[in-house]
Amino acid sequence: MQLSHDLELALDRVAFAEALGLDPDPWQRELLRSSSERIILNCSRQSGKSTMTAVITLHRALYHPGSLILCLAPALRQSQELFGKVLGFYRDLGRPVSPQAERKLSLELENGSRIVTLPGTEKTIRGFSGTALLVLDEAARVADELYFAVKPMLAVSGGALMMMSTPYGKCGVFFGEWTGAGGWERYEVPASQCPRISEEFLEEERANLPPFIFRQEYMCSFEETEDQVFSADLVDRAVSEDVEPLFAAVG
Ligand SMILES: Nc1ncnc2c1ncn2[C@@H]1O[C@H](COP(=O)(O)OP(=O)(O)OP(=O)(O)O)[C@@H](O)[C@H]1O
Ligand SMILES: [Mg+2]
Repeated sequence: MQLSHDLELALDRVAFAEALGLDPDPWQRELLRSSSERIILNCSRQSGKSTMTAVITLHRALYHPGSLILCLAPALRQSQELFGKVLGFYRDLGRPVSPQAERKLSLELENGSRIVTLPGTEKTIRGFSGTALLVLDEAARVADELYFAVKPMLAVSGGALMMMSTPYGKCGVFFGEWTGAGGWERYEVPASQCPRISEEFLEEERANLPPFIFRQEYMCSFEETEDQVFSADLVDRAVSEDVEPLFAAVG
């Protein structure tokens, strides 16, 4: 009985999430059942991005021995929050694989898996190889240089990449990847698809927030940033292929 339950949890991440006391929303179920290696989530605040990331991270570490999983966020506080969820779930399950080292920002298991949570500075993240899964939480606020520094870690390992965020302006790698031609499996989850956010609460927010902030935080909308003088659209339209540059590019 126990063995068949373990096998079910190993094979089905929805069952695994349920064992953690969660009742996954429809989009969360789809995500948990996905085997895509490139996943990008554009979601409302509080929709459960970090929770799902923590579930997927822990599942990978427990059931795929020897996995190195890197979790990145723009700031240490966000990395810590994400890692706190992972550790909480691990403890809730009664540490099904024994820990080799359980630290403030990393967990090493006896099966050789490691979950390492890193703050968003480029210096600290170089030097990891063999990454099985790279997770970027709050990706819209992750510096472009950080993304460009971590991406090669997947080159040799052929590891998977997941980015999740609420939008933040029409620039940066999250906007670029979301709107680009890359082969991502895309999830768009506005607050209306989150059963834990009530209509009354949303109406209150709509009434009180500047409209562009409301659209950004709850409706998956990439808005112009506040300090942007010209809109991204205007800049795009001002660029022409027909005009010769005044000075040729050097290099
Ligand atoms: N399927 C679910 N069942 C029950 N609770 C859930 C579920 N998904 C998320 N939650 C809860 O919703 C809350 C918000 O989740 P989470 O922090 O993962 O959202 P988020 O999208 O990362 O939010 P933020 O935008 O603030 O970072 C948490 O209390 C979490 O436990
Ligand atoms: Mg979050």
